Amino acid sequence: MVKVKVELGNRSYDILINTGILSKIGEFLLSFNFSSKVVVISNPTVFGIYGDIIMKSLKQAEFDASYILIPDGEEYKDYFWCYHIITQLLQKGLDRKSCLIALGGGVIGDITGFVASIYMRGISHIQVPTTLLAQVDSSVGGKTGVNHYLGKNMIGTFYQPRMVVIDISTLKSLSKREFFSGLSEVIKYGVIWDLHLFEYLEKNLEKISDLSDSYLFNIIKRSCEIKADIVSKDERESGLRAILNFGHTIGHAIETETEYKRFLHGEAVSIGMCLEAEISQRLGLLDIDASKRIKSLIASSTLPFQLPDGVSFSKLKLHIKIDKKKEADKIKFILPIEIGKVMIKEVKLEEFLDIYEKKSSCC
Ligand code: NAD
Ligand code: GLY
Repeated sequence: MVKVKVELGNRSYDILINTGILSKIGEFLLSFNFSSKVVVISNPTVFGIYGDIIMKSLKQAEFDASYILIPDGEEYKDYFWCYHIITQLLQKGLDRKSCLIALGGGVIGDITGFVASIYMRGISHIQVPTTLLAQVDSSVGGKTGVNHYLGKNMIGTFYQPRMVVIDISTLKSLSKREFFSGLSEVIKYGVIWDLHLFEYLEKNLEKISDLSDSYLFNIIKRSCEIKADIVSKDERESGLRAILNFGHTIGHAIETETEYKRFLHGEAVSIGMCLEAEISQRLGLLDIDASKRIKSLIASSTLPFQLPDGVSFSKLKLHIKIDKKKEADKIKFILPIEIGKVMIKEVKLEEFLDIYEKKSSCC
């Protein structure tokens, strides 16, 4: 088993990574000073597969363990379901020393972290991510939240978990489409931070796609190290952490324009990464070969790499205009300048279309 530490002073925590460690959760929890009541928050899909293992482990460690399930889907990541969870926590008598366990993908992780941050002014929680996206991204770093009907993730907090437990073997039951959506975030880490990771992905894509344990282990560990490093340096996104949004400015706009129905998050981010790399190239910041390599790795990962029919840049511009990360009339783009290195560049909204529509020398 490997431990990656997220260094945040007295809020530091470990990310434990291995295969088959779900059955050790009870044991891991014993090292904290939690009261005996612990509650697993999950959905029927994930709990149906992994619920027994985790409940057995908690009971063996003599916790008074119970669970709360919410329906499966992004549409349930909302305030109503938070309220429902909180009602059940109160009925179960959870106190300030109790612990919540998020068992599932990013939806479960985000809502559980948010509830933990507001229940009785904050109780402990641990993240047990079961999608690749949640293992390499959403479970680490303390962004929690739920959606408002006027915008995604518009209600939220920064609130760190006490521990993250990544059992790689849970990826075996994940659909291939969800797996590759998560891989898009791994590619992102390669582009923004680590040429070696990018090259590793290029070289070993087949073994990774076949879910070979040692290859999965390597990419998940490296992704967690990178995220831990960035979050440790800038927990609240006052600067550096923004680079994690590479591909997301355009990606989010695509998700909004297609009403979150056509693409999974990582798929929309893939298109965003290709287009943002192209913007960088058109601005003369990234060479054509690097831009092509990014697109090629994304395409080889069976991820989309271009705007879908019916979605134009002028439509996307309208969504970018109301993005919560936009400042004044400028869009903050994360632009790769070489593979493994990015810069943050503010582009005026009106310049955005010009840049994209400018004739490119390559394509
Ligand atoms: P998800 O949580 O909806 O999970 C995707 C699907 O896979 C669901 O149907 C789920 O039930 C199923 N599933 C999960 N694990 C499984 C397993 N092991 N086997 C079989 N099925 C399994 O989606 P996601 O991609 O994990 O997360 C997306 C969410 O994460 C979004 O709400 C997004 O806003 C959020 N997010 C948060 C952060 C952050 O920093 N907090 C970062 C990125 C994304
Ligand atoms: N997923 C982006 C972040 O955690 O900052």
